[in-house]
Amino acid sequence: MIVQPIVTGNVARSAHPFGCQAAIEKQIDYVKQQGSFKGPKKVLILGASSSYGLASRIALAFGAGADTIGVSFERGITDDRLGTAGWWNNIFFKKAAEREGLLAKNFIGDAFSDEMRAQVINYIKAEFGGEIDLLIYSLASGFRKDPKTGSTYRSAIKPIGSAFTGTNVSLESAELFEQTIEAASEEEIEHTVKVMGGEDWELWVHALHDAGVLAEGFKTTLYSYIGPEATQAIYGEGTLGRAKRHTEETADRIDAFISDKIGGEGIVCVSKAVTTKASAVIPTFPVYASALYKIMTENGRHETPIMHKYRFLKDMLYGQKRETDEASRLRPDNWELDEGVQKHVKDIMKKVTPDNLRDITGFEMFKQEFLELNGFGLEGVDYNRPLDIDKLKAMLP
Ligand code: NAI
Repeated sequence: MIVQPIVTGNVARSAHPFGCQAAIEKQIDYVKQQGSFKGPKKVLILGASSSYGLASRIALAFGAGADTIGVSFERGITDDRLGTAGWWNNIFFKKAAEREGLLAKNFIGDAFSDEMRAQVINYIKAEFGGEIDLLIYSLASGFRKDPKTGSTYRSAIKPIGSAFTGTNVSLESAELFEQTIEAASEEEIEHTVKVMGGEDWELWVHALHDAGVLAEGFKTTLYSYIGPEATQAIYGEGTLGRAKRHTEETADRIDAFISDKIGGEGIVCVSKAVTTKASAVIPTFPVYASALYKIMTENGRHETPIMHKYRFLKDMLYGQKRETDEASRLRPDNWELDEGVQKHVKDIMKKVTPDNLRDITGFEMFKQEFLELNGFGLEGVDYNRPLDIDKLKAMLP
């Protein structure tokens, strides 16, 4: 079987196993070049298989020598389908970490369930040294089953109050198109908070604490987004923004609880806009990100997830270069929201047309990063070599 990139409606429909491996190795090389830092040793990452969660896992394993447990929800290989990018990322991360003598345990299943909490806790007690000193919460999901009531909630990325029309760009044809998203109903707002708000984060912290597996000085962080004016209607002030504000209230409670119990810390990390499978389908976001990448490349501050999370973990969560705001959130996104940067981005967004898209924005970078998420466009991978399905099926996460 030969696997080619298939992108329809800005959604990737295929992933290349060895391309994913190459993307993992590229991130590991970046971390090794940057050098090691003093950080946590036993880490649990919820949402560890792609983008920010994966980048955090790589930065902590290869930058701080941490053993890691990763939880993710990924589809594996079957007779007719190859498995998601996250499936291969889990496999190849584990291989690379074990090569360095690090523990790397993958749990594939529903992180929102009590069963998953119990499995992870049992593993920590039996095989992971009994304690963790960091929990990273990096889940992004379209739905969540509440473990208490059994009800399932679906999240929606929608504006609140009135419909929003913005320009998006097709990753297949580079054509710009207008996209209108209707305003969310009250129920959609509530459901998005249920899925992407802080409730599940708090359940995890309490379950881990009650089981006695949190080390003295334990930290936990959740990745949030605020973003610029250009995406406020659809993001910051939309359903997802509402959920993110809920995580901030949760962070205050978690912080008070763990600082009291074990001298630890619970904090939200407002992260920068990066190319991910979810961001490509949010109206305005790909155009905004393309403009942003152009400016931030010019000023030497463009960051991919691995660069952003390495800096955040080394300099902020475990370093002395913390930047916090009035709501006690850590703000590595300050580079993105810098006034000068945003002014340039706004100018570009006003001027962008299908003809000048490639010249005045970093569209090609956005597209390249999008392909890399699924293991395409990476150097050193022979995409014409047929894949041995039986060998791939024998690889376990
Ligand atoms: P992603 O879609 O690349 O990764 C999500 C992860 O969650 C994957 O590992 C997936 O397997 C896992 N997952 C989803 N549902 C699950 C379930 N039920 N059980 C177990 N695992 C599950 O998302 P991305 O972009 O890395 O986002 C992570 C967090 O960072 C989100 O909270 C997002 O809002 C936030 N963020 C993202 C930004 C962006 O530009 N992409 C910017 C700032 C914050």
